[in-house]
Amino acid sequence: MALILENYSLKNLNTFRVAATARWFMEIDTLEDLQILFQDEQWRDVPRLILGGGSNMLFTKDYEGLVVKINLKGINHVIDGSEVLLTAGAGEVWNDVVNYAVTKGFSGMENLSLIPGSVGASPIQNIGAYGVEIKDVFYQCKAMDLETGLMQVFNLNDCSFSYRDSVFKSKFRGKYLITEVTYRLFTELKLNTSYGAIQVELEKRSIYTPTVADISQVVSHIRLSKLPDPTMIGNAGSFFKNPVITSGDYGRLQAEFVDLVSFKLDESTFKLAAGWLIEQCGWKGMVCGNTGTWKNQALVLVNHGSATGKEIFDFSHKIIQSVKLKFGVVLEREVNII
Ligand code: FAD
Ligand code: EPU
Repeated sequence: MALILENYSLKNLNTFRVAATARWFMEIDTLEDLQILFQDEQWRDVPRLILGGGSNMLFTKDYEGLVVKINLKGINHVIDGSEVLLTAGAGEVWNDVVNYAVTKGFSGMENLSLIPGSVGASPIQNIGAYGVEIKDVFYQCKAMDLETGLMQVFNLNDCSFSYRDSVFKSKFRGKYLITEVTYRLFTELKLNTSYGAIQVELEKRSIYTPTVADISQVVSHIRLSKLPDPTMIGNAGSFFKNPVITSGDYGRLQAEFVDLVSFKLDESTFKLAAGWLIEQCGWKGMVCGNTGTWKNQALVLVNHGSATGKEIFDFSHKIIQSVKLKFGVVLEREVNII
């Protein structure tokens, strides 16, 4: 069986770069390693935390169980007419898979370029950006039930995907270990350029008939201009979800705040830009001790060097309180708090 290490530092395994220790730690390179681990009586009742790239986690304390880092590799694809089924191991870096598809001219994933993290985590919160979510390209995933060790296949309809949510983040939280994901892409050009910022950037570059690679480059450019690079400054992307409110609440807020940034979802619900709410409360670019919000994007909390997870968590609480006080809206954390 793969080596199990004791009191292992997780500081370089989470993009917030906060210090935390795993009581036990192991890396899973093969499905065989996984089967052996789950047949071993010694580990059966020990709490387990599945770790991908650590880019959507905040460790507020040490983890008193077994952290299982997923390194399962492999990317392949099958073409059937205009459809492509692309399968990748859970430990593949998400952006490597996007690049694999983009290089071959397969469309579907390009708007999700440069999102940090692993393939295995991509369905967990239904990652999304620039008008596309995983649910739009998800075909199926294979996962191991962490209680029984049995493998199971989840098709699109089994996953209850919604905005930054899935069955794996809610009802089955912590119950399954995803081993591989299959995405449904297209050999034909099927692009989504609906997001305003993409259109602006394409026009700036005088691109009128974009390719998959053009969209990937444009999205990467927009992201790099807004978001901090986790290798330079610790962060986990958007710390909160954009809140969804009723049309009644929307009417009340709109009357008071004429420049409210919102997006109509349907007749009865609106999504608000949490970054705008936070900025209006005066938090944008604010430095508070070792933590703060990013200067170009108030929705991103950052570690200025030596912040603890607890410090970042407490700071996020202050933001929730002030947004609630000013707007009557309660922000929900997107990042997984450990
Ligand atoms: P981790 O942080 O390691 O884990 C996240 C959760 O998934 C945990 O609950 C973990 O237990 C679980 N998990 C991980 N792997 C598995 C597995 N194989 N099986 C079962 N459970 C597993 N997200 C977006 O949606 N859109 C964005 O635009 C976006 N931009 C970001 C920008 C930056 C700069 C950063 C730092 C983050 C951003 N994120 C974004 C968040 C993050 O990239 C995604 O949530 C990503 O999917 C996390 O992948 P990970 O491998 O790092 O997951
Ligand atoms: N805004 C402000 N001030 C800010 C930030 C944003 O006023 O400091 C307003 C602006 O009006 C801006 C609008 O909010 O036009 C939307 O901002 P942006 O386009 O940056 O998107 P977002 O809603 O803040 C979401 C996702 C991101 C994703 C982008 C692009 C969530 C929680 N976040 O951010 O995902 O990359 O859209 O699609 O839905 C992540 O999940 O980690 C993440 C980075």
